[in-house]
Amino acid sequence: ELYNLREIEADIKVHGVIGNPIGHSKSPHLYNAAFKSVGFNGIYLPLLVDSVANYISAYSSPDFAGYSYTIPHKEDGLKCCDEVDPIAKEIGAISCMIRRPGDGKLEGYNVDYLGAIAAIEEALRASNGAPASVSPLTGKLFVVMGAGGAGKALAYGAHKKGARVVVANRTYGKAKALAGKVGGQAIPLAKLKDFHPEEGMILANTTSVGMKPRIEDTPLAKEALKHYALVFDAIYTPKLTTLLREAQEAGSTIVYGTEMFINQAFVQFERFTGLPAPKQLIRDVLARNA
Ligand code: ATR
Repeated sequence: ELYNLREIEADIKVHGVIGNPIGHSKSPHLYNAAFKSVGFNGIYLPLLVDSVANYISAYSSPDFAGYSYTIPHKEDGLKCCDEVDPIAKEIGAISCMIRRPGDGKLEGYNVDYLGAIAAIEEALRASNGAPASVSPLTGKLFVVMGAGGAGKALAYGAHKKGARVVVANRTYGKAKALAGKVGGQAIPLAKLKDFHPEEGMILANTTSVGMKPRIEDTPLAKEALKHYALVFDAIYTPKLTTLLREAQEAGSTIVYGTEMFINQAFVQFERFTGLPAPKQLIRDVLARNA
């Protein structure tokens, strides 16, 4: 049901997701259905790849218009780009690659952070009715727990939207290094429970604390959560983490990790096609293939 080869025309724009393993990926279902629904002449293939460098040099013909990158190739993918977006360079990983029309150069981007940031912005707008013209994150105190790949992505994203960033990490040195890059403040994770310079802050968890199977764990004590207007957790197994459940009980707006994936799919679709994403269709396809 994924590909109807009779529909393929000579000028079709070929896309694919590069990863290993790749059989489990929902992306081919999602993009093929979405391309079709907006009348975009494109196809999207699962690509099981061992070496990104070999793949790009041997198999990537100019017919390929764009790629998504998934585990474990996000870092290697970056090394195979002709040009890399500055944020992707800072993060050290790409999530998609686009062949520039004209000279055919491969441009690398990291849109993972845009997915999380877009989901947080949408939830804030829904809860306080802020106008669409300005980011509801502007001027907000935005606390990122964790300083790994996802932590970097969230910190850069929040900084780009004009938030004041605080990085809280178990290893303080890593918090300091990241905070320095985004003009923010660093704090050891263990001290975050006593940090509340103001009310209505935003909290994003990018540590693995609370992930299945240790679902009772939480990176921040419940008492501290009342100071946050919104709490996002990048963990999506389980969907409702202890952190999110306790944040909800404390009255915060919560944003699930699954929203990060859905929103980055919207962003990537728009990069690939130049067209607005069919959001409801994408949500339906993901729900059907869950
Ligand atoms: P990702 O790419 O998902 O961000 P990562 O780069 O491995 O993953 O980063 C994992 C993050 O979770 C780090 O910030 C790590 O803290 P350290 O820098 O101190 O290692 C954090 N983390 C993992 N296990 C943790 C734990 N038990 N308590 C607190 N933080 C933890």
